[in-house]
Amino acid sequence: MQITPNEVVGANVDGIDVATLDDAGFAALERALLQHQLLAVHDQCLTPESFIAFVRQFGPIDLHVLDQYWMDGHPEVYVISNIVENGRPIGNAREGFGWHSDLNYFSNPTAVTVLYALEVPPEGGDTMFADAALAYSALTAEHRESLRKLTVRHSYQLLHASRPWLKLMTPAQVARTPDVFHPLVRRHPAIDREGLYLGDWASVRLQLPDEAEARAAQERLLAHMVQPEFRHVHRWRAGDLVLWDNRTLMHTATEYDRERYRRHIWRSSVRGEVPLGAFDRSSAIDVAGRA
Ligand SMILES: [Fe+2]
Repeated sequence: MQITPNEVVGANVDGIDVATLDDAGFAALERALLQHQLLAVHDQCLTPESFIAFVRQFGPIDLHVLDQYWMDGHPEVYVISNIVENGRPIGNAREGFGWHSDLNYFSNPTAVTVLYALEVPPEGGDTMFADAALAYSALTAEHRESLRKLTVRHSYQLLHASRPWLKLMTPAQVARTPDVFHPLVRRHPAIDREGLYLGDWASVRLQLPDEAEARAAQERLLAHMVQPEFRHVHRWRAGDLVLWDNRTLMHTATEYDRERYRRHIWRSSVRGEVPLGAFDRSSAIDVAGRA
């Protein structure tokens, strides 16, 4: 397994076939993911079955709200594509725009997302990642302190309403997506990282008494977080398997010429823990535990 770190966050992985990894190989990949937070494994050749089997090793797979884009016979795979077959889109052509963390609107949001590219456009359609922990650590100590106790409302229904091209939600979809509240500063459960857990105002709302103030503060934090110094841009190749930790990274899709090029990507989301708030750096237990 050759691991080549990116400049800011993440790493490229070559020399493995994730469909035939043994336990030691998977453990090494999992360690690399914890260390680098984002991995691009090149030159994979997967079936829906081997893709799902690989993802399941990280934990239970959460099914996406939009069941119309589940792969036929394999609901664990959510299809992102502009391809139309027999008059029917095989996937969601406009998925993932705007900075976000996956399935943030669930009480147990995604820990790890895995994307697998079957077809990609020769230009455009990059995925951008922002290291929300690196961005958080770059704030002043006073600023970090002031953010630690804040919570954020995450609403799938607001998100859906902001995307008028989607068909109306079914009663079952509505029932599955009550609003949830998560800490603004989210702590990784396994490593010493905490970062801003945020998204666009369209569906993610910092909770402050004054809404205008909340929106302005959220927009300032987002603008800070997605600066180039905290960002990595993944340029896709067919056969790329890209996986990342959603606890302290945010990401966004970017545009491509949908009329001209085909794009076909599979996605699966591994369910994570209920988000943990920031460490209380002043507590005795924390000091003892981390000394
Ligand atoms: Fe996403």
